[in-house]
Amino acid sequence: MSKPLNNPTDQASQKLWGGRFTERTAATVEAFTASIHFDARLYRHDIAGSMAHAAMLAKQGIISAEEGRLIGQGLTDILQEIEAGRFIFRPELEDIHMNIEKALVDKIGSAGEKLHTARSRNDQVALDIRLYLREETDRLIALLSGLQRAFVAQARQNLGAIMPGYTHLQRAQPVLVSHHLLAYYEMFERDRDRLLDCRKRINVMPLGAAALAGTGLPIDREYVARELGFPTITANSMDTVGDRDFAIEFVSCCAIIQIHLSRLAEELVLWSSQEFRFVTLADSFCTGSSIMPQKKNPDIPELIRGKSGRVIGSLMALLTLLKGLPLTYNRDLQEDKEQIFDAADTVSHCLAISAEMLGNLTFNRDRMMQATAAGFLTATDLADYLVGKQIPFRTAHGIVGNAVAACVAAGKELTDLSLGELQTFSAVIAEDIFALLTPEGSSRSRLSFGGTSPTRVSEALAKAEQTLAARSL
Ligand code: ARG
Repeated sequence: MSKPLNNPTDQASQKLWGGRFTERTAATVEAFTASIHFDARLYRHDIAGSMAHAAMLAKQGIISAEEGRLIGQGLTDILQEIEAGRFIFRPELEDIHMNIEKALVDKIGSAGEKLHTARSRNDQVALDIRLYLREETDRLIALLSGLQRAFVAQARQNLGAIMPGYTHLQRAQPVLVSHHLLAYYEMFERDRDRLLDCRKRINVMPLGAAALAGTGLPIDREYVARELGFPTITANSMDTVGDRDFAIEFVSCCAIIQIHLSRLAEELVLWSSQEFRFVTLADSFCTGSSIMPQKKNPDIPELIRGKSGRVIGSLMALLTLLKGLPLTYNRDLQEDKEQIFDAADTVSHCLAISAEMLGNLTFNRDRMMQATAAGFLTATDLADYLVGKQIPFRTAHGIVGNAVAACVAAGKELTDLSLGELQTFSAVIAEDIFALLTPEGSSRSRLSFGGTSPTRVSEALAKAEQTLAARSL
């Protein structure tokens, strides 16, 4: 014999999903499952999505025009309350979606109860994150351009200055300081490309997947997409609610940017040391020591370098979060947001301060030039000179190697050798070698496309300046 059904009307119905429940949620469970303390920042995106959804429901006749209007008005009021700091976020309502929906129902009654028709939090949260990431991507792209502008300005200002280029952190060949700076311009240009590409996959409208299987109600997904400025809609409802690839991609773009910033930071820490003294950071961009009165520390680049740990961590966290998740939505996915937010925040702060720091940097051109004097930086030029005299490169390499070894033993540089001394290593060496063995001569000769000759660097600089000038973002 079956038991008579009873209809619980108490507490649980306070919750938007309370109908099925007969007991109050444990306070510990409410605290454990709540995400409102971090997802509240999605309020604008959530409201924008709900407005488009309600407009679509009204257009399709699923709700009345009047109900659509009431929902729109109620959401507008809630938006204002949040922005004015008057909205009370309630942890027992779990997340931003239910806080807003409950406030709407409290405000406008039964029309508010119709907002969630043909929608689930599963497609709703996917929409919110996509809207948020679309904005963040554009913000990062603009910040990247700002940083690139700072590099190009320094490259313009220091055009002509020469420094040692390094491999293995050993002096290798003379390069223009501007060439080194423009290397970073290129790195951040690729980061921009990556973000633009990632944006294509962020910019796909998920709403209408509902919980996982779509809906039987006559919705118009294309309309919602148009309202929210999405060029396309997602193709498979199950994929839609389980997919966070776009977030992984975004955070991976962030991680690569942060790695580039960290390499820059490392160079600035090194270059501002007493050992290098290649650059001076403005006092306003350094901090002191609480015990050592003489100290002026490069804390800004150090922190940028240090913060790469958290961005890489966020990428690992997201990859691990998705690994082994069965289709479709699982509550695990709620863990995505803090990683996404932290990566976006960290990288945008670091990009902004890096651009500012670059503007506060002085290149010690004399000191950089001095550093090109020792360390046989033009040895390759001597080998190339011999190649010009029809000596096979390997043989030339050996000849110059012998000359360098002799210099090391004698405590000399190649430029200290007389013509006669040079000729003891190869008879083909003539007077014209001396012009080539200087840092200027060496860099002037490197005319291959992408090389460090002043001609090529000036061209690259002009091209970068044009590119940036033509750019709106
Ligand atoms: N706060 C949730 C999240 O971030 C929203 C989706 C909840 N969906 C659910 N079926 N419980 O993922």
